[in-house]
Amino acid sequence: MELNWKSRKVVVVGAGAVGSTFAYALAQKGLAEEIILIDASHDFAEGQALDLAHGLPYYPSVQIRVGQSQDYADAQVIVITAGAKQAPGESRLALVKKNAAILASIVDEIVAQESQAVILVASNPVDILTYVALKRSGWPKGRVIGSGTVLDSARFRYLLSQHCGVDVGNVHAYFLGEHGDSEFPAWSMTHIAGVAMDDYCPLCNKCQAWQYEREKITQAVKDSAYHIINYKGATYFAIGMALVRIVGTILQDQRSVLPVSTLLDGEYGLQDVCLGVPCVVGQGGARQIVAAPLLPDEKTALSKSASILQDVLKQLEE
Ligand SMILES: NC(=O)c1ccc[n+]([C@@H]2O[C@H](COP(=O)([O-])OP(=O)(O)OC[C@H]3O[C@@H](n4cnc5c(N)ncnc54)[C@H](O)[C@@H]3O)[C@@H](O)[C@H]2O)c1
Repeated sequence: MELNWKSRKVVVVGAGAVGSTFAYALAQKGLAEEIILIDASHDFAEGQALDLAHGLPYYPSVQIRVGQSQDYADAQVIVITAGAKQAPGESRLALVKKNAAILASIVDEIVAQESQAVILVASNPVDILTYVALKRSGWPKGRVIGSGTVLDSARFRYLLSQHCGVDVGNVHAYFLGEHGDSEFPAWSMTHIAGVAMDDYCPLCNKCQAWQYEREKITQAVKDSAYHIINYKGATYFAIGMALVRIVGTILQDQRSVLPVSTLLDGEYGLQDVCLGVPCVVGQGGARQIVAAPLLPDEKTALSKSASILQDVLKQLEE
């Protein structure tokens, strides 16, 4: 099939804290030729785009401007960070319904432009909204993905590297499942410099009770967003970098393995739900799910995440 995208054009929908931080980080990496900002408030997007564009003399070559729905037509990646904030007294479910409606209307506009892009959803609840976007688009599943547990896995790698005193580049580790309370660390996939964690801990012998330390690190990852939101109201720097990582591997067809949120179709014994599992990501989006041989308790945790998300999806339909 003839693809009609301009090379390395990225559209960001939602020019708030996450969208603008992502755009800023992407511009500095020199990965995109064009970065387009779209927001429900055109004036706000215009202001953000101008502010970002004034850094042009100091970025690698890139064009940054405010856009409109026609820009979806030849984009290679469309990153959705748009969403409403919880209003006082509003239930979680009401917020999910509101954000699902926002996502659906954005996806309708993208589809109307006959875009060949990959849609990358970052708005929360990311796994639910990825599913909504995928079903609404009718596109192949690999082309509509969510940021999944890529950020959570970065937090996990950071904490492990701090704890073990090892370069984070030597730490391979994944959090999987829902980007939310039921997510879990896949210890069976965790390696330091190629050494499985169960072998590394006794070798290193730095901490006495490593099982206890693992639980502490797991909890710290799960509590990260709550802590940061308590301190400053929102998280945006690390998710901005996580989105750059995902978009970079798509633009460069790098085939990195990242735990993006993707539709499961029998993998891990699960069906009809989007959640974070390791995927080979490259041009065209999620190219292949890596069906890792998880331990029984990890499989149970993944199934639990899936059933929590499927319950929410059911409530969305009611
Ligand atoms: N996936 C992750 O790991 C992760 C991490 C952090 C934040 N998030 C999520 O990212 C989302 C954005 O967070 P934020 O801090 O940037 O919020 P924000 O309020 O700063 O920005 C959201 C923007 O979306 C815009 N918007 C709302 N409806 C729109 C529509 N229909 N079309 C276009 N734009 C629209 C708003 O005008 C606003 O500028 C939230 O859902 C947040 O929970 C996800």
